[in-house]
Formats: sequence, C-alpha cells, structure tokens
Amino acid sequence: MLKKISSLLEYEEQYQQSISSPEKFWAEVAESFLWKKKWSNVFSGGFEKVDYKWFEGAQLNITENCIDRHLDSFGNKTAIIWEPNNPSEPNRIISYNELHKEVCRFSNSLMKLGVTKGDTVCIYMPMIPELAIAMLACARIGAIHSIVFGGFSAQSIAGRVQDAECKWMITADGCYRGDKQLHLKNIVDEALEQCPSIQKSIVFNRSNFPVTMKEGRDVWWNDVVKDCSTNHDAVSMEAEDPLFILYTSGSTGKPKGVLHTTAGYMVYAAYTFLNVFQYNTEDIYWCTADIGWITGHSYIVYGPLLNGATTLMYEGVPQFPDWGRWWNVIDKYGVNIFYTAPTAIRSLEAQGLKFLEGKNLSSLRVLGSVGEPINEEAWEWYHKNIGKEKCPIVDTWWQTETGGILISPLAGITPTKPSFATLPLPGVEPVLVDANGNELTEKVAEGNLCIKKSWPGQARTIYKDHEKFIQTYFTTYKGKYFTGDGCRRDEDGYYRITGRADDVIKVSGHRIGTAEVENAINESPSVVESAVVGYPHDIKGNAIMAFVILKSNATASDEILKKEISETVTRIIGPIARPEKIVFVSGLPKTRSGKIMRRILRKIAEGEPDKVGDVTTLLNPEVVEEIKGKVSR
Ligand code: WT7
Repeated sequence: MLKKISSLLEYEEQYQQSISSPEKFWAEVAESFLWKKKWSNVFSGGFEKVDYKWFEGAQLNITENCIDRHLDSFGNKTAIIWEPNNPSEPNRIISYNELHKEVCRFSNSLMKLGVTKGDTVCIYMPMIPELAIAMLACARIGAIHSIVFGGFSAQSIAGRVQDAECKWMITADGCYRGDKQLHLKNIVDEALEQCPSIQKSIVFNRSNFPVTMKEGRDVWWNDVVKDCSTNHDAVSMEAEDPLFILYTSGSTGKPKGVLHTTAGYMVYAAYTFLNVFQYNTEDIYWCTADIGWITGHSYIVYGPLLNGATTLMYEGVPQFPDWGRWWNVIDKYGVNIFYTAPTAIRSLEAQGLKFLEGKNLSSLRVLGSVGEPINEEAWEWYHKNIGKEKCPIVDTWWQTETGGILISPLAGITPTKPSFATLPLPGVEPVLVDANGNELTEKVAEGNLCIKKSWPGQARTIYKDHEKFIQTYFTTYKGKYFTGDGCRRDEDGYYRITGRADDVIKVSGHRIGTAEVENAINESPSVVESAVVGYPHDIKGNAIMAFVILKSNATASDEILKKEISETVTRIIGPIARPEKIVFVSGLPKTRSGKIMRRILRKIAEGEPDKVGDVTTLLNPEVVEEIKGKVSR
C-alpha cells in the first residue's frame, strides 16, 4: 500500500527522511505499484547537467496501475462518474471493469489504425469519458498524448500539432457548454489544413452535430472500435519513456511542450493525491478542472485512478442552468473531496448565498484550491459557506512543469492559514532567492521561489528543445529549478505564493504569456505595436490590459478597432487570452535600446501611476504622462 501520512508528527518525520535519504524514501513509495521490471537506479543525474532520471531500468505500464491491478479486488467499483452539461440528459457511471474494457478496446483500435509506441497523438475533446479513455489508451500502447484544451483556437491546435509532429488526432463532433454548442470538429478541420503530419483523425460522436468527414483522413470512433477486442496486453514502457506532452505559456514566444515521463510522474501523482486530499477508499472525489490542463491530467485522471478512487467528471460550466449547479452535483453524488480554482470561488461568491439554499453539502470533508493565489476573502467564504467551517482547505501550489502538487497542507493534518500554501510535500525542497541569486536563509523572507532538488514528478524537458528547457528553468539561478513565482515565508516556515515574477499572467487561473498575446494583437491589420500587462481583477484574479499603437490609416471607431483586436486574439489563441481593456496610445515607454518598459505600464495598469519611478532615462518619457491620462479616466 502507498504510504499515507496520518499526523503532523508523521509528516515531519517523513519529510526529514525524504530529504536526508530521498532514494530510500521514493523507493519505498514506489514499492506499492505494479512493475513489469524493477528499477536499477532510483535516481540519477541532477540540476547541474539537467539530466535527472527516476526509477531508471524499470519497466511498467501506467494504465495497468490505474486500472488492471484494481480489477480483482474491486472491478465493480465506480471509476468515473460523468455528469453531462444538461442535467436532464442521463449521466454515465463507469466501473473499473468497464473502463478496462473501453481502454483495451480503444488501444486495439489505435493499433489497428497504425499508431505505434512513441507516436504523438493530439487529443482535442470535450469533458466526456472518451477523453479519459483516449488518453489512457495512448498510454497503454506507448503513444505520447498531447491534449489541447477545448477552448483553444484552430491556430493554437495547429501550432501544437506541428510542434509535436502529431500523426494522429482524436476529437469529437462537438459538445455543449452551458447554453452554447461548441463545434469542435469544425475547429479541428480548420487546424488540420495546416497539419500535413496528421494521418488519421478519429471523431467521437458526442452530440449528433452535422460534420464533414474528410475521405481517407477522418474516421468515426464507433466504426473503429466496433470489431476490436476488449482485451489488450499493455505495452511495456521504460521508466523514462515519455508519457505526455502538455503545452504551456511562458515569458517568451510560443507555448512550450512540457514533457513528462512515465514512472516518476506516476509515483508522484499517486502519492500526492492520496496524501494532500487524505483520500479514503469510499470517497467520491470531484475536481472541476478541465482535463486539457495539468490539473485534469494529474488529479482527474491519473492520480485518482492510480489510487482506485471514484473520480467525477463534469462536462459543463458552473452557471448552467443556474449558479447552483455545482452544489446540486455535490448533493446528488455525495461528493466528499472537492477541488476547484479561486476564480470560480469568487464568481460563486458574487452570486450571493441564494444558490446554496436547499443544497445538502454535508458530504464534503476536504476542499481544495489551485491555479492562482487564493485571496483571504475568497478563502473565508469557501471555508464558511461551502465547508461549513469543518472542512480543511488545501491550497495546493504547483505547475504544469512540476507534474504534481509541491507545496500544500495535508488535509486535516497541517494547520491551515488563509492564503498560505503552507509546507512542502515530502521530497520537495523550496528555497527563496533574491534578485542576485543569493539564498535567503532567514526563516522570514521574501523572494523568488526555487526548488533545490529533483522530485519524481518533475518535467524532464521541453519537447525537442532541451536547450530551451535548461535556459528557462535552470539558468536564472544556477543549480536550482526556478518556478517563475514570487513567494514569502513566514515565522512558521509557511509559504505564501505572491504571484508570477515573470511575464506570465494568471487570468482566471489560466496561464497566459504576454509575448504570445502581443504577437496575436500585432496580427490585427490596424496595429503597429502593442504591450500587454496584467492588473488585479475582482473575479479573474488578474486581467489583461493591452496598450496598442494603431496604424495611421486605422480610421474606424475605437469600438470597432477594439472588437477587431479582440477577435484577432480569439482567432489566434482562444477566448481566454482576450484583453479585458485595450488602450490606444501614440507610443510605448522604451529604454534607449528599444526595450519596452513593462514595469511602468504595469504600475499604471495596477492603478498606481505615481509609483512608475524615474522615467527620465527613457527614449520617450512624454508618453508616460499620456498613458497615465488615458488609464486614469
Ligand atoms: C502557476 C502554474 C498547478 C495546476 C494549475 C496551474 C500559479 C498554481 C497556485 C496556488 C498561488 C498558484 C503559480 C504557478 N499557481 N497554484 N495554490 N497559489 N499560485 O498550472 O498553468 O502551469 O500554472 O499557477 O503562479 O507558477 P499552470
């Protein structure tokens, strides 16, 4: 059995052991999994050469650990509860036995089409069980899944497919989100016009929407699985074989294909799920994220299934048919562990308490938060009105690159403090550093958050660009992994994440790179140049403000031009990256070497124009006053 920590004292002991003898610690955790062959080396390499490896020499298949090994003891237990967007449509309850059959059948289907070990498969699907089945089937045959969130545009899909050289696409006709219909297949069709590497596109019929099937390329899911066996011998994978790629935004340019490998990711996702949420065998667990993000990978699919849990998947949005929907779902299934994002909590809080009336939330035992700092007010509201002051809140800090949670309370064990992610999990050594890279050794300190040593769930590289991986994460502070986050440590040694320290903005928990948005805005026909910054927003946490220089021939009204820019961003990236505010300016503050001074724009956007500091050394100090005037209106 996987080690479950059950007291603060035990946490402290385990933590010490994990730091003094990491290999012994993780070997013991790893013992409880199903291995086709054991490792020869628990850990090798490190941050100096960025060549760390976990469980080298071992062979396994993660899906045997997620599914097969549970079948003898509880094959009839529910693995996935699926709740559709529309409450009047029937739900689906899928047992471990059924999940096994479906995953095996789809694995055979993929093999029949020619998918082989090491191939990259793009998945662009709604939140339906077939999404989980598709990803597990990829893992079962050794194909690398690259899931693209259903809110991304055709152009974003194309960029990711091209970068990962995907040969296969798995999608659906469309889906429902609230009162909207999303025609995913049409979006994919547009993307695939630019993707010659795609050999076949498998289409699941979710909604009976009209679609055009391209001869020779598109095949229906149901036609492919029809004659396939529901037994499949899982392919044997090496510990460090790639499991998936997941694209995420950074400070510069295009999204990066973060690559996770098999054994370390598995051990870490399973261990953190069990311990952070203090999962009990009969719990009903619900994470409201989308599987298209790392939270969904690790804590809707892999982490819960590795622990034999019942995981709930919801297709829709919190406000459909009304803002009481989530509370209905908790009531309906008796959800015990509920994991969501601060932005959702703030939206729900803004609706008042009427949507909670008559909803029985007494099944809840643990609440979780993820994706951005949770402000104290939202924390208190969540604690009081959802947790009824009896459920611990686990404020879980982690990243796409970390694979699993690194800093978080253990539910009911670590005393919590609003807005603090509290303490590192076993195996995790956080350090704070100042701008010069000096480690801040005093207990109370504030600086940039780095991690000192590797943990099993850590990303291994950026797909096809290890140089960039080293450059992005291991160069700013030599020998340390730099997270990109600012952080404060208090007198209890608790960590409080203060937000991004780089050119990344967390908008409603979504990670958005300023350079990416600027590049998109600049594609707009009327735009010369732009600069994008974040500013605090009551519901979204941060919102995007774009400063835009227009071409002299852009004579349409401001309203039309703003709409055009917004639509360009939606077309190139997707609606999540749309700027909240667009300000037209005659120039952008630049240094004499031509670098945009985002710091100045940020202060103005944050409503602190008197804090821009000295601007006299700028190339064009006069624009600062102009911009201040335009934003303060
Ligand atoms: C960034 C990573 C981890 C899954 C979802 C986001 C921010 C994440 C917290 C938290 C404060 C948080 C950080 C981090 N973040 N969790 N509990 N408190 N900030 O994954 O899209 O890779 O984003 O999200 O800024 O670096 P991601």
